[in-house]
Amino acid sequence: MTFDNTPDRRGTHSVKWDSMEAIFGVSPDEGIAMWVADMEFQPPACVQNALQKMHDHGVYGYYGEEGDYRAAIKWWMENRHDWKIDPSWIFTTHGLVNGTALCVDAFTSQGEGVVLFTPVYHAFARVIKAAGREVVSCELVNNNGRYEFDFDAYDAQMTGNERMVILCSPHNPGGRVWTKTELQAVAAFVKRHELILVSDEIHHDLTMPNQHHIPMANIPGITDRLVTMTATTKTFNIAGSHAGNVIIEDPDLRVAFGARMAALGISPNSFGLFMATAAYSPEGAAWVDELRVYLDENRKIFDAGVNAIPGVQSMPLESTYLTWVDFSGTGMSPAEISKRVEQGAKIAANHGATFGPGGESFMRFNLGAPRAQIIKAVARLQAAFADLQ
Ligand SMILES: Cc1ncc(COP(=O)(O)O)c(C=O)c1O
Repeated sequence: MTFDNTPDRRGTHSVKWDSMEAIFGVSPDEGIAMWVADMEFQPPACVQNALQKMHDHGVYGYYGEEGDYRAAIKWWMENRHDWKIDPSWIFTTHGLVNGTALCVDAFTSQGEGVVLFTPVYHAFARVIKAAGREVVSCELVNNNGRYEFDFDAYDAQMTGNERMVILCSPHNPGGRVWTKTELQAVAAFVKRHELILVSDEIHHDLTMPNQHHIPMANIPGITDRLVTMTATTKTFNIAGSHAGNVIIEDPDLRVAFGARMAALGISPNSFGLFMATAAYSPEGAAWVDELRVYLDENRKIFDAGVNAIPGVQSMPLESTYLTWVDFSGTGMSPAEISKRVEQGAKIAANHGATFGPGGESFMRFNLGAPRAQIIKAVARLQAAFADLQ
């Protein structure tokens, strides 16, 4: 498998490439899209073959008999994450932003608080606010370029109006793979304040080769408050399939979640289920392991290049392909930084402030791309900040 050769996505309704000019003012003709979290790579052959088989059959009706789909998810969680699940615990949503929205809807009421450890994936806050709930931002501590929790501060922040916490594990942005001790501390916090814990583990497969993700479900004593969200979409670069899994062991939480799914008439898209079943296989696993090595090399090249710019520091990624770069040492305003990145380097990257408090001096760059593109991006960034050398 080589990740060096990728198709041109411009003009294919790719939000990453075809919306970059409208949003960032960077033309796809000369620019590099490094924002939205999908990669440039085609998925493994097993996924492509599953779609080809559907195409050859040529009838696209409703999907039923989910046994092999659920068995594939169970196999993957046990083999890749040492997490034993029962197929009956699985709900299929239209992706995990949809899963998040359903959790907010099922487990909280209007005006109640949902805790986020910020900066964090921007859609969480968007969904919480749109549902008329309150975002409670608990800022992560940036300890020498590594995010850590500060539960003493968070305890002091709680008012009693909070109902739920959404944890991003591994963390986006910043790429932390939370340790067992940290996850235990999150669980203790959740119990102390009698909250529901939604653990978004969508990035769990994309750890760097020397890192190991621990599912929150494997932390003892938390399952009666826990909802875990996973998907094939980030791992296999099939985000357009919009299929996610909300996995709930606790029967009461499962009834509440299932009731909202039923009330909203949510049933799965057959393309997503065929792709997920094919992806969660030994062939899919081998592909992911090659991908992780490739992403790790991209990360090293990008970090070495941007960290050579005075005042610029990327967080060492433990997982994800979304690198989080701190420009605070340049002394420039966020507007000046994004102007240089967009108009100077002609790169579309996420603005840090959109990830909530603590993100203001950062930008997020997507490294899920062929190596040549990463090398080109580094050279452009160095040129855009050349006056600092
Ligand atoms: C933490 C996290 N959750 C969810 C999503 C998106 O999920 P979906 O495409 O399944 O809605 C992303 C995408 O970047 C993400 O980073």
